[in-house]
This record gives sequence, structure tokens and C-alpha cells, in this order.
Amino acid sequence: MKKVPELIWSLKEESKKIEGNTPVFIKTQQIYDDNERNHIVFQGDNLEVIKGMANDYSEKIKIIYLDPPYNTGNEFIYSGGNLEEKYSNFKQSRDAGNAKENRHFDWLNMIYPRLLLSKELLNENGVIIVSIDDNEYANLRLILDEIYGEEKYIGTFVWHRRNYDESNEGIISHQHEYIVVYGNPKFDSEKTKRISSWIYKEYEQNDTTTEAMKLDYQYTGKQDLVDILEQDIGMNYPKPVKMLKQLVNYFSEPNDVILDLFAGSGTTGQAIVELNKESNSFRKCILVQIPKKTKKGGYDDISKITIDRITRAIMKNGENESISVYQIRK
Ligand SMILES: C[S@@+](CC[C@H](N)C(=O)[O-])C[C@H]1O[C@@H](n2cnc3c(N)ncnc32)[C@H](O)[C@@H]1O
Repeated sequence: MKKVPELIWSLKEESKKIEGNTPVFIKTQQIYDDNERNHIVFQGDNLEVIKGMANDYSEKIKIIYLDPPYNTGNEFIYSGGNLEEKYSNFKQSRDAGNAKENRHFDWLNMIYPRLLLSKELLNENGVIIVSIDDNEYANLRLILDEIYGEEKYIGTFVWHRRNYDESNEGIISHQHEYIVVYGNPKFDSEKTKRISSWIYKEYEQNDTTTEAMKLDYQYTGKQDLVDILEQDIGMNYPKPVKMLKQLVNYFSEPNDVILDLFAGSGTTGQAIVELNKESNSFRKCILVQIPKKTKKGGYDDISKITIDRITRAIMKNGENESISVYQIRK
């Protein structure tokens, strides 16, 4: 009998079986000549991309960062590889019942195979970092305990993201989000100071016993995005660049590779380009964003926002940096 509690849900076992051919990538763009810091953007479903990365990137990644849809009730993209057909039959019969009640099930079937498979890409000192809120925090912890082992749980940062908001439903006003970290980080002597679990605005607390992540003015990274794109495209909740910079700086070394599986506007890309400039490091990022139609700010596809943001970051701050863009061959 298993000694640790395990989360069980329908189709869990099926979602583990990753079948099908290994995807082949084709390079569709090279932005600036392939340089000493060459970043990669994959325009594709992250499950397929992880499968395709298995040969070249096995145990090569220092940080895997995930900022998945939080499952707040809005639709998210489900793609489950070989599970897709089974899942859609199941979903149809189930949705005749109550789709909303089953949203945890949907989310788990989406995230579980991605967490399971991406673990193979992490190197021995690597960490997985996941942004999440109250909707799936408990489920996420249980499946990460199962996949990585409870002893690999490093901690949860609590990010004070917004002030009290009257429109926030319920008795408790949720003003924070979480950043969950698992893995095997090795710290050099300069990083021996403990990191506070609080992420807050600069002036809110003054904790001298621990090093804390502090943000300047913003509760989200909206203004960072507006500044770099030179327009407001109506993406209101990207992560703050400064927060990503601090996370990457704590958990990686100057030559490491960082993989972001849900890239969105590409905050992680900008953070790494800026960090390279500020600390003369050679970090490389791999960003994965599914092509998704949009009308935001004149872009027709979210993944083009990802590419444009990192291109602009290089134009503004980068030295000897370049980007290769890949798609999955159909
Ligand atoms: C919460 S957002 C990430 C925001 C990002 N951290 C930022 O700061 O802009 C999640 C992103 O993941 C993308 N996404 C959802 N499912 C995906 C999948 N299966 N493969 C790749 N990207 C996916 C969504 O289109 C969305 O852009």
C-alpha cells in the first residue's frame, strides 16, 4: 500500500500514456544571427514541444517555469495528445451533467502529463517553478508531491498581488497568488541568505533576516508590457519582469537554460535578456506558446506577441543575443 496520499481522478492513468510519434521541429525564423546567447521560441502546444525536446534537452534545463491558466472558470486550451479523442467523448457525456463542477478534472488532465514529461528535461540541480492561485493550489501540490516527491518541495512564495477589491466575491478577499518551487537547487556561498516567502511592494515590509523579492510600483506586469510594446494591448495580467528576474537569478547560474512552457506575452524572455545585460550572464531561454488567434494591439496571434516582446527586449537591452523560432512539422 502506498504511504503517501495520492490524488486520483478519471482518465489520470490514460493521461500518462504519451503515445504518438516524436514531433519534428522546423525552424521558421532566425532573428539576428545565431549568437552566443541564442534563445528559442516554439510556436506549438507545449505537450508536443516537450515530447520533441526529449532527445536534445534531456536533463539540460535548470529552471522549468509554468504559468498555466489558473482555471478561474474561463476556458483554457486543452490538448492531450493521444488522450484527446477519449477525453472529448468523455467530456461530452459529462458536460450533459455539470461542466463547472468538473473543471478541476479538466485542469488536472491538462497539467498532469506536462508536469510528468517535463521532469525528464530538468538537470540534477534544476527546479520547477509554478505560478498558481487558490483555485488549483491544493491539487497542484499533491501532484507535484507525487511526481517529484514530497522531499523535493522547497517552498511556496506568496505574492501580494492586489489590494482589497470590493468586486472580489466571497467572504475572504483573495489578494495573493502563489509560486510553488520543487527540485534540487544548489546555492553558492553568495546565496546562503534565506529567501523570504513573501513577495510584496517595496515599502510594505522591512525584513532584514531574509532576502525578499520586492516589486516596485506594480501589482502586475501590465505596465512592463505597455512600456516594451509601446502600446496597451489589453493584456492585463502578465507577470512583473522584476519578479521573473529575481526568481531566475536565485535559482540559476549564468550559463543555464530556462524553459517557460506557458510563455504568454513573453515576460520570462524579457527578464532573461535584461538579466544577461545587467550581470553579463549567458542565460538562454526557451519559450513555448501555442499559436492562438487574437486581435490585441494589431497582432493576429498570441505567439507573435511573445516573439515581438523578446525581439524588442534584445533591441533595447541585448548584446549578442538572437532568437530562433520553431514550429512543429505537421
Ligand atoms: C497565464 S498565461 C501566461 C502569462 C505569461 N506568464 C506572461 O507573463 O505574459 C498562459 C499562456 O499559456 C498559453 N497556453 C495555454 N495552453 C497552452 C499549451 N497547451 N501550450 C502552450 N501554450 C499554452 C495561453 O495561450 C497563454 O498565453
